[in-house]
Amino acid sequence: MAFRSCLVRLLLPMAALLLLAASSPAAAQLVAGYYSKTCPDAEAIVRNETEKIIAAAPSLAGPLLRLHFHDCFVRGCDASVLLDDPNGGNKAEKDAKPNRSLRGFGSVERVKAKLEAACPSTVSCADVLALMARDAVVLAKGPSWPVALGRRDGRVSSATEAADSLPPAFGDVPLLAKIFAANGLDLKDLAVLSGAHTLGTAHCPSYAGRLYNFSSAYGGADPSLDSEYADRLRTRCGSVDDTATLSEMDPGSYKTFDTSYYRHVAKRRGLFQSDAALLADATTREYVLRMATGRFDGVFFQDFGESMIKMGNAGVLTGAAQGEIRKKCYIVN
Ligand code: HEM
Repeated sequence: MAFRSCLVRLLLPMAALLLLAASSPAAAQLVAGYYSKTCPDAEAIVRNETEKIIAAAPSLAGPLLRLHFHDCFVRGCDASVLLDDPNGGNKAEKDAKPNRSLRGFGSVERVKAKLEAACPSTVSCADVLALMARDAVVLAKGPSWPVALGRRDGRVSSATEAADSLPPAFGDVPLLAKIFAANGLDLKDLAVLSGAHTLGTAHCPSYAGRLYNFSSAYGGADPSLDSEYADRLRTRCGSVDDTATLSEMDPGSYKTFDTSYYRHVAKRRGLFQSDAALLADATTREYVLRMATGRFDGVFFQDFGESMIKMGNAGVLTGAAQGEIRKKCYIVN
């Protein structure tokens, strides 16, 4: 009996995720097991290579997750974030300011090269990004979710578009909600996906404005930031021009995927204004405070998988008439 209820508890969330993966309009064209006939080992190749990459550099889990997010929010999940400027200039998405801190491009190329060796011109770079993001989260002790596949790769990448489409670190909830809505994501997804900041680090200019550019009444610090924490951050991040210093968004467990990010946000120690903003809206605040209790880790894991599935459906290209399967991720065929 106990075994049966345990099995039901394990299987029900997975079944719900599978339903979600196949239910939204764009997802109708993405399919679980899409490569089962054309490249049966595709998912295993991605998983094995990602395991090796994270074993050698555990700090890459966050960047691999972020790459998929920055891809999906600009022209949909079409791997446009991976393209170089074809004219050798700096006008591709990856050259836009919010993308200059992205990492992991070399790792994606490495996985793609393995896939090309096994099944040439079959597995898209956009699908590789979606799979690597999921596998990186799993390797950081986070949840797994089914990734429906069949995305095709775009041929256009624009720095201006990226700068206009990605959420800024100083964003408040109305602005963030608008940007998320443009990608089919709601306020709950905003609260859930911000939880990705449980992994990784940020460069000082991403939050230095909160330490130095606010009213002198608060010593220049953002009043929504805990003042002791602001003092501590100032000792590390000396000015808005300090590009060398890194800070964790989830100090103490930035390599582990868990709910402790929400405990920092609840204590007004979220690193970015966008993290702090989650306390200013009733829906997102309720989510932050509930996750901060530490009693709903399973709920967060389930929610995160659901929101990642929704994000992975944003603006996808599917079918032979759209996009292409790039041979190398940094250049169109
Ligand atoms: C809500 C809007 C969001 C804003 C404004 C935002 C902003 C930022 C900023 C400014 C950084 C630091 C960049 C740097 O200085 O190096 C960062 C890092 C990161 N973000 Fe977000 N982010 C948002 C949502 C998300 C989402 C939805 C995900 C993934 C699903 C995500 C995943 C990450 C990860 C993993 C890192 C750490 C990367 C590393 O270690 O290099 N973020 N984010």
